[in-house]
Amino acid sequence: MSGGNNRAIFDDRERAQAQALLAQVPAPLLDWYDTHARVLPWRSNPSPYRVWISEIMLQQTRVEAVRGYFERFVAALPDIPSLAEVPDDQLLKLWEGLGYYSRARNLKRAAQQVVERYGGGLPADPKALHALPGIGEYSAGSIASIAFGLREPAVDGNVLRVLSRLLACREEITRAQVRRELTALAREMLPQERVGDFNQALMELGALICLPHGAPLCAGCPLAALCTGQQEGIAASLPVRTKKKPQPVQQMTVFLLTTGERICLRRRPLTGLLAGLWELPNTSGALSCSEAAAFLTELGLAPSALTAAGSGRHVFTHVVWEMSLYAAVLPADSPLPDGWQAVSGGELGREIPLPGAFWRLLRNPEASARFSAIFQPSGDSQPL
Ligand code: ADE
Repeated sequence: MSGGNNRAIFDDRERAQAQALLAQVPAPLLDWYDTHARVLPWRSNPSPYRVWISEIMLQQTRVEAVRGYFERFVAALPDIPSLAEVPDDQLLKLWEGLGYYSRARNLKRAAQQVVERYGGGLPADPKALHALPGIGEYSAGSIASIAFGLREPAVDGNVLRVLSRLLACREEITRAQVRRELTALAREMLPQERVGDFNQALMELGALICLPHGAPLCAGCPLAALCTGQQEGIAASLPVRTKKKPQPVQQMTVFLLTTGERICLRRRPLTGLLAGLWELPNTSGALSCSEAAAFLTELGLAPSALTAAGSGRHVFTHVVWEMSLYAAVLPADSPLPDGWQAVSGGELGREIPLPGAFWRLLRNPEASARFSAIFQPSGDSQPL
């Protein structure tokens, strides 16, 4: 297992050994799953629609974070036609705080295509699923196997970790060739029956036992006796992964502007990070109080009582925001710049999608006194 970048990872002998090992996985893993699987809302009544929504929500996101979102989403949009027609703000409000909002937009686009091409039912075909917006190879495999019982592998980062440990594979796990060969082995390992359960059992093992960051719980693992990584004493140090470069840090000055009982928001551009969501007005750079006042004046606003109101930090995949917040009061009914609106606390809570980064900033102790004067959380909307 060494050499250049596009070479095969496993030679014929190693592949045959890996196949023989993996052939022993399904029986003990399915037994374990039968007693240890978590009760999750999408597992009861795994209709194609519910499986699809859950698998998209679970991309890059922990099960515990997804639970509540899933239940609210399918209650509000119970089927593909309702998703195809939902207004964007309602859709993004249902997704608010979950992050990676393009997932929500892709769900709607895919629903529209499913209505047009397939009469409103998801196709039971991994290639046709993969052709829909937001459905990559992993999601196509998970939906095909869980919703339709098709013999397709579903190999995400968690499953790659399990496989790399089982096989003591010391290769860099993010390399395309490594992923391809492990996915091919995962396909050969699939049982004839209960494929969806088997794929979910692999995910469940990755979530409950074969934990990341050097912390596998091998003592409780149903596959410990098979696991080469465990036998060689290297399971905790696998998979091998080169360190990501730290994301660039962007300094920002953000404004909590109130006018009467309303808060000023601005629509974000329709492309790029957090596309089309609403935001607190902001500008780049960490402005002093007088620079912040000048910025607002230049926009034609007449702020009073401008004060620093705390700070916050939000880590996205490709950038970190370091935000300084200023609060100020604008005269009631002040004219606002294009693309802005002033909304009541109720509208913000129920209707307007505001990214989690801004919600957290508003909840810092210095801002929350001002903010809570206009915002009373309404039981059905408790972002963060
Ligand atoms: N992660 C991705 N899909 C999942 C599923 N169906 N169950 C648990 N974790 C998952």
